[in-house]
Amino acid sequence: MPRLGLGTWPLDDHAAADVVERAVGLGYRLVDTAHNYGNERGVGAGLRAAGVPREELFVTTKFNKRSHSVRGVRRAAVESMRRMGLDYLDLLLVHWPNPWRDRYVDAWRGLVELQRSGEVRAIGVSNFKPAHLDRLLAETGAVPEVNQIQLDPRLGRATARAYHARHGIVTESWSPLGAGSDLLDEPVIARIAAERGRTPAQIVLRWHLDLGCVVVPKSASSRRLAENIAVFDFALDAGELAAIGGLDRGPGGEAAALDSDTFGH
Ligand SMILES: NC(=O)c1ccc[n+]([C@@H]2O[C@H](COP(=O)([O-])OP(=O)(O)OC[C@H]3O[C@@H](n4cnc5c(N)ncnc54)[C@H](OP(=O)(O)O)[C@@H]3O)[C@@H](O)[C@H]2O)c1
Repeated sequence: MPRLGLGTWPLDDHAAADVVERAVGLGYRLVDTAHNYGNERGVGAGLRAAGVPREELFVTTKFNKRSHSVRGVRRAAVESMRRMGLDYLDLLLVHWPNPWRDRYVDAWRGLVELQRSGEVRAIGVSNFKPAHLDRLLAETGAVPEVNQIQLDPRLGRATARAYHARHGIVTESWSPLGAGSDLLDEPVIARIAAERGRTPAQIVLRWHLDLGCVVVPKSASSRRLAENIAVFDFALDAGELAAIGGLDRGPGGEAAALDSDTFGH
């Protein structure tokens, strides 16, 4: 799995086709979409226009709560592949657990079955808390390969990351740049950026990578797309990581994040 990819929310089909083609041209190989984003057709068109062999690409999509059943997951995968014009998916995720419906274990069973059929290479979840993961493990014995969660320096998610590390689950950070908030203006990030001759976004993306996370920043600008992927020729040192880690608001700060126990109710 590439360590850094392109986020595509909230691009529509038209914008996604254009941005995905440009991003692949700049070297992006992982593209993150979802049925809910309504842009899978555009993502597929952009991938075809980029003209890179399919095996070099890593395409992730997600299905929503309406597909939380063994048959529903298969149908959702087939429909996503049809919209994107692909004959397999690299990674398919349960988008949200929606635990009040009590169906996410069925969704997970559906993914495990689908992976056996070969149409989906890797399977995982998104926005699952440790308690939700505990249930998957206890009831199916199958461990998700990835959990894509909201994560940035202010929302460090230490408990989730430690759980993932214990179980061999890849942590993938969504809204890694803080989704247009003032995260990139934090003085400590600006200071390290100035000292390193990098941009604040590059420092934040490097922080994710140095923590061992996969990141999917979104940008529609060619300049920022190029900036965001130019982070593989340096690493932060322990002091810099600790200084950025000081922005973490801890479990209390998680109240500001979307709560997967209630989101989508
Ligand atoms: N699993 C889930 O439930 C879930 C939820 C939300 C998001 N996601 C995924 O995560 C992806 C990323 O999250 P996100 O889009 O919410 O937030 P993000 O990637 O943290 O931030 C995107 C924002 O930052 C700006 N930006 C990008 N690069 C920049 C740079 N180098 N300097 C300054 N600003 C920059 C973008 O503007 P420009 O476009 O103008 O550059 C955009 O406004 C999504 O696209 C989606 O694929 C998943």
